[in-house]
This record gives sequence, C-alpha cells and structure tokens, in this order.
Amino acid sequence: MTTNVIGQPLPRIDGRAKVTGGARYAADFNQKGQAYAVIVSATAGLGRITEIGADAVSAMPGVIAVISHLNAPRLAYGEHKGVIDPAIGERLHVLQDDQVRFWGQPVAIVVADTLDHAERAAAALHVAYIAERPVVDPTGLLASAVVPEATKRGGRADADAGRGDADAALASAEVKIDENYDIARENHNPMEPHATIAAWDGDRLTLWSKSQYVVNEQAEIAAIFGLPVENVQVICPFVGGAFGTSLRTWSHVTLAAIAARQAGRPVKLVLTRKQMFYTTGHRPRTLQRIALGATKDGKLTSLIHEGYGETSRYEEFIEALTSVSGFLYSCPNVRTRYRLVKLDTGTPTYMRGPGEASGVFALECAVDELSYKLGLDPIELRRLNEPEIDEAADKPFSSRSLLKCYDAGAERFGWSKRDPKPRSMRDGRLLIGMGVASASYPAFHAPSSALARLLPDGTAEIEVAASDMGPGTYTSMTQVAAETLGLPIESVRFSLGRSDFPPAPSHGGSWTMASVGSAIRAACIAVQEEAARRAIADQRSPVFGASADGVIWEEGRLRRRGDTAPGQGYGDIAASAGGSIEANASASRDPDIADRYSMHAFGAVFAEVAVDPDVGTIRVRRALGTYGAGRIVNPRLAASQCTGGMVGGIGMALMERTVLDQRDGRPVNAHMADYLVPVNLDIANIEAHFVDEVDPHVNALGVKGLGEIALVGMAPAIANAVFHATGKRVRTLPIRIEDMLA
Ligand code: MOS
Repeated sequence: MTTNVIGQPLPRIDGRAKVTGGARYAADFNQKGQAYAVIVSATAGLGRITEIGADAVSAMPGVIAVISHLNAPRLAYGEHKGVIDPAIGERLHVLQDDQVRFWGQPVAIVVADTLDHAERAAAALHVAYIAERPVVDPTGLLASAVVPEATKRGGRADADAGRGDADAALASAEVKIDENYDIARENHNPMEPHATIAAWDGDRLTLWSKSQYVVNEQAEIAAIFGLPVENVQVICPFVGGAFGTSLRTWSHVTLAAIAARQAGRPVKLVLTRKQMFYTTGHRPRTLQRIALGATKDGKLTSLIHEGYGETSRYEEFIEALTSVSGFLYSCPNVRTRYRLVKLDTGTPTYMRGPGEASGVFALECAVDELSYKLGLDPIELRRLNEPEIDEAADKPFSSRSLLKCYDAGAERFGWSKRDPKPRSMRDGRLLIGMGVASASYPAFHAPSSALARLLPDGTAEIEVAASDMGPGTYTSMTQVAAETLGLPIESVRFSLGRSDFPPAPSHGGSWTMASVGSAIRAACIAVQEEAARRAIADQRSPVFGASADGVIWEEGRLRRRGDTAPGQGYGDIAASAGGSIEANASASRDPDIADRYSMHAFGAVFAEVAVDPDVGTIRVRRALGTYGAGRIVNPRLAASQCTGGMVGGIGMALMERTVLDQRDGRPVNAHMADYLVPVNLDIANIEAHFVDEVDPHVNALGVKGLGEIALVGMAPAIANAVFHATGKRVRTLPIRIEDMLA
C-alpha cells in the first residue's frame, strides 16, 4: 500500500528552483506598468505630525503621489482578529491621524514611476513633529506592569499559575537559587525583506506579498478596506525566511494597496533593512526572576518563575514565557507569574520559539546554577527531577523522550569527557566549557484543509493555502501525499501560497507538518475513496459493481480484493470520470485526545565554547541537539531545520540585540553591520539528531513539529558552557565580550 516515502531523507524538491533563481518571491512578481512606493518613517518616537511638505516633493521627477494622513483615504478598519493578531487592542491604523506612537511609524508614502525617483522624493519629504520623549525601557516599570488581559480569556499564556506553596517552600529549602535574567529585544532579519506588490482591478485587489499566512492577510486586508473577503487574493509561493515576522499583516501591506489605488496602477513596495526594525514586530525584551529550592540531594522543592514582557500601548502581545516551568520538572511547589510593561514601541510579535526560548533560558540557567551548588552533574539533576506526568496540567504526556535525548546526546557529544570543575578545561590559552540545557515546545495542531486532485495522466495535484518559509514544506508535504496515494514523489505536484486554495493555518507555531500534513493525508484518502466510488459505478471499470471494501488500492492502482492483476490506475479512473477527480478534506485534533494528554516535543542541547581569556571572545566550537519530536517525515530537512534553529540560538546567546536610543526610541543598530547575527565562522560544527519516538496520540501522522524547539535550549546551553569555561555566570543576553572581561 505504501511506497515508504515518509521518512526518506529526500533533498528539497524546490532546491533547484531556489538556487537557479526560478523560485519567485513577492518582489519578483513585477507587474506591467507598475509604480514604486517608498515609506517615509517617523523620525520622532512619540508625538504629533505638524507639517508634511508634500507640495515641494510632488513636483520632483516621476512623482505620482505623496500620501499622508492629510490626504489618505479613510479606511474601514473593520473587525478582524485572526489567531495571529493580538486579542486585545487595535492594530495600527496607518495614515489615519497625526499621532506618532513609535519611532519609524509610517507617516507618508511616496509613489513614483521608478524606485530611484520614489526614494529621492521620500528622502526629500519634509515632515515636522511636536515630539515627546517616549518610554522604551521596561526596567524601571516593573511595579506598574499589568496582568495581560488576554490571559483572562485562556489560551497559551497564563498570568498566574502554580501548585503548592512555592514561597514557603523556597524559604525553608536546604539549597536555593534566586536570580534575575534580562534578554534583549531582537529583530527577525530574514534574508528576504517584507515586500508587497498590489494591483487593483475595480474593487478587486491582488497582493503578491511575503506572508506566512496568506488567508489571514486576505481577511485582514479585506477588513481594513471594507471589501468582501473573496475580492482579495494573496499570492506567495516562496518566503525567504521569516521566523515569525510575516505571520501578521503589517501596515506596509495596507500602504501598498493604498498607493496602488491612488496611483491607478500596480505598485511595488519593499521595506528597507532599516524599516524591518520599525514596523514588523520584534522579540520583546524580557525580564525574569527564577527562584529554585531543593533538598541537599537534589530534589526540587520549590520553583518560582516571574516574567515580564514588553508590549506596545495600542496592542497587547503575549507569549508563553513561563509555561514550560510548570511541567519541565517534577516539583510540588510551583508559582509562575507573567506581566506586561506597556511602552512607546511598535507591537512585538512571535519570533522563533516565542516565549519558550526566553523562559527556558532563565529556567535552564538556574537549574545549571543549582547543579553546581549541589555538586551534581547537571544531567543527573534533571534525571532526579524527571516528572512522571505533566504536573501543571495534571495529565500524562502523550510521549516524552527528554531523558532519552540526554542519554543519546551525552553519548554523542562526549559529555563524560567533561571535567565538572569550572575553569578547569583548556586548549592552549583558550578556556573550554561544556554546557547543557533542556528544550521543550508544544506539539500544536491547528485545523487545516487541503485539496487532492487525480489527473488522467496518473499524477496527482495537491493544493493548500499554506506557506513555506524555508523548512522544506514543499518537499515534506509531497512526501505525505505520495505515500498516502501510493505514488512516486515525481507524480505528485504540490502547490501552496494562494489564498484561494483551501485554507491552512499560519506557517508558524511548528504546527504545519502536523496540521497541513494531516489535512493532505485526509484529502488523499478522500480522493481515493471518491475514485473508488467512481470506478465501482463505471461499467467500463474492471472493478465495476464491487463494494467499497471489495476493492483495494496498491501503489496508486485499484483492484478487486483477491485479484492478482495490476488493476486500474488513478489516471484511467480520472479519464473515465471526465478529466479529473477532486476531494477537499479537513483535519483537526480530536478534542478528547487533546483533553487527555499533554503534548510537547522535548530535546537536550549540548554546547562547547572556547573563551579567549585575554580578549573575551566566545566561540561556539560545537553544538549538538537531540530531539524527541515524534515521527520525522524527512530526516535530512528536519536536521537542516534544527541546525538552522540552533544557529538562531547562537544569535540569541551571543549576538542579537536591538539597541534603542532612550531619548527618542530609535533603534540605533538597525542594520546588519551593527545588529549581529551568526555567520559561517560562528557556526562551524552543529548537529541535530532525533531519537525514535512513536506518539500515537498527537495526530494521524505522529508528528510533533520541529521548527521552534530547535531555538529553545540553545542559548542556555551556551550560557552554561560559558560558565563552565570561565566561572562567570552571565544572566543577560546577549553575552558580550565585556561580560568576559569584567
Ligand atoms: Mo513562528 S515564531 O510561529 O514563525
């Protein structure tokens, strides 16, 4: 029945298109007669616009329109809350009033016949402000932090949770840790900038737009312009990295559509790298406290995790900052608290491992610190506190392979060669350290649909409005379809990235494989059932008149049970049916199962660093992640995705930090020269491995998802390795050279 395509380490089916320029990204969809739009970004961090010098600029060469709040159309901004948009607050209404809410907010858009003309005119546009000093530093504001409204509605983040009496247990604990952690604001910085080409045809709008969620962009733009949803079409076959920044539909998409309408022709709008730091979200800075109490022999008795995130004044962004602390370890007394600080900033957004990556950093550094206080190996300490069930949810785990990951990872990494004493290992002048940390991320499953179509030539087509931002979704989904249909991979053509395809959830939350994969599997089964039904009814078919359970499918061919002849192929059945056979199907998680089990992926992450004691440079010499993430559909792509996530963790640990000027809120390092990300030299030797894990509960495919867990755990493994190398415990990310020299 199967061709065993799932589980094969196939190369990317879109790899050739990507390296030969055949893959088209949003900005590649140039339209005939298109004009170019350039955003003018606010050069005040808070205040009011008092003047826009549009007249002078309108006379410049090639300028078609200068649009600001003074002449922009009043937009409907109708109700739309997709699962991606903050539940509380209201999105930025762009060019609708004279208010400046944060540095870099779009205050005007210039449209011209060429990009050059548009850039010159935008640079020349004089905008005057009455500016106030924005509040952009959360550190002094923790006392006024608020309970996130959205947590009162349930969902992924709790304001307050726990069990037992953690404060009393901490007070009486034999051994304690009580420390604070500060993680910098980060910006996503994918290779492909945000880009939208907008074209109107009457009141119908087509957007070629970078998006991790085309159906959400369609619904959002329809709501903003007061259009029926079906009047908006969003097309995005390829995404050049996104990491969460293209989950929401940010203001530039609206601006492109305004500009195209005003110009009366298609308009292309691409954000500059600098603008990518202004209006398209960021990982919020977080401030956290972790307190741990334990017995002398290493049993946790108390765990307190208090976390503060930043948000904008006009929307409430929340993430699961403290949730892993509830279930990672067995502990009778746990108290978690999550609060928000409102700042004069653009709204933050999800960035790989949102919440978990930041929260687990604090927890896993504290656990490491406790291991030294106890004189225990950090893996042994985790083994001592391995829970039998999810003690926060009071449910069994659907599967949990954390200790298996530690065992396999320790073996591969050579953990036993580590001398436990800090500052004890050297390579010449360099201080060598080995660190370890746990990773965890939920195994989500969002409702998805998909369409499967069988063609007369014996091939199949699959369509779904998913995105592929780089992990290999084209390939893995083709594998699921090929296996379910019993076809070779070459016979399946998989298409995504159009809002008129059957709806899919966002390409985020690590849920695409589980959600879209399950829908594709369901659609392939449904189309087989439909094909069988047609054949049984078709007098020309060799299976004519059989019952549904009197026929079987084998490698894409249908025959009567018991027959030895090869049977009738999809192509013949489709040809007889008049051209093609289609089925649309949906899949979602069984709510009973979701109720019964706690579902997460787990992993163990190891890092080795070399610190130069004279100049303070830190190099990650090797890193190894071992993950238990259910079934692995394509081991090659899974490993590639995880090493990519681990690279993101190196950035978080050692490099990435958006620095804001406290006087006006401007990001002072809004460019790739000063906003550092790892380069090849920084990522020499990274490996990802998977333990065999069969989870019968998560979904029909048995997959848990992989994208985000790979970032979780990397930063604490590095920080713990830095401590082991140097004896310096740094609780602020990124860890800087200065921290090593202090
Ligand atoms: Mo992810 S932060 O859900 O792209």
